[in-house]
Amino acid sequence: MDSDRKIKSDTGWADGTEAKSSRQPSCNSLAKSCAGIRAVIFDLDGVICHTDEYHYQAWLAVARRLGIPFDRRINSRLRGVSRMESLNIILGEAGRHYTEEEKQRLAEEKNRIYREMLGRMTPEDLSGDVKSALNGLRLKGIGLAVGSSSRNTSFILERLGLSDYFDAVADGTQITRSKPDPEVFLLAADKLGVQPARALVVEDAAAGIEAARAGGFPSAAIGEAASRMGADYVLEKISDVLKLV
Ligand code: BG6
Ligand code: MG
Repeated sequence: MDSDRKIKSDTGWADGTEAKSSRQPSCNSLAKSCAGIRAVIFDLDGVICHTDEYHYQAWLAVARRLGIPFDRRINSRLRGVSRMESLNIILGEAGRHYTEEEKQRLAEEKNRIYREMLGRMTPEDLSGDVKSALNGLRLKGIGLAVGSSSRNTSFILERLGLSDYFDAVADGTQITRSKPDPEVFLLAADKLGVQPARALVVEDAAAGIEAARAGGFPSAAIGEAASRMGADYVLEKISDVLKLV
């Protein structure tokens, strides 16, 4: 049995972490979709792993070099949107126009810095809480997918030891419109073979929650701005998802 399959096993994770026994969900006290969820589609950056911080650090390095103001408030607008759209938002704070060629080079510069950080990630970067969530969902027979705008999704999953873990992966290399368009989630649902109404989307981005809504998916938000995104559910931690299925 290889390590990825071990991760998938019913008894726990490759590192010996046991699946936490989840409390029986009290469906009566929870809203609408509690009963019918057959799959969970996870956003990647800022949900499965902390790569949202690496995106921030890499953009900050580029913005500083260019002398463009950039902070966490501006960064929050980049969550969920594509690399080039992110760059356009950052350059919106610049005092001059950038050509398409310059933008290509800046996007490449940011991605180089970002991938250096990704290259230092290991399966240890997966939190115990995320492992509990994924393992608990598996034990309940829930389909698991990733729905991410990132073109680095395969690399990140590889670094985390999750390359063969998910039942479906839809990412930035397979879509033409990034969140808030629902394309990536619709693709994930299609790969899973489930209707959008039966697949819960877990997101840390307002654009992601908007995409879920546009595609007809129930949604759960996590992170600093979670309560302001208009998601169906707000999670304090990822493993809270176990109470919703
Ligand atoms: C999303 C992130 O997951 O991926 C965005 O939330 C990012 O911040 C987007 O811009 C694209 O990522 P990448 O890895 O293709 O540059
Ligand atoms: Mg995200």
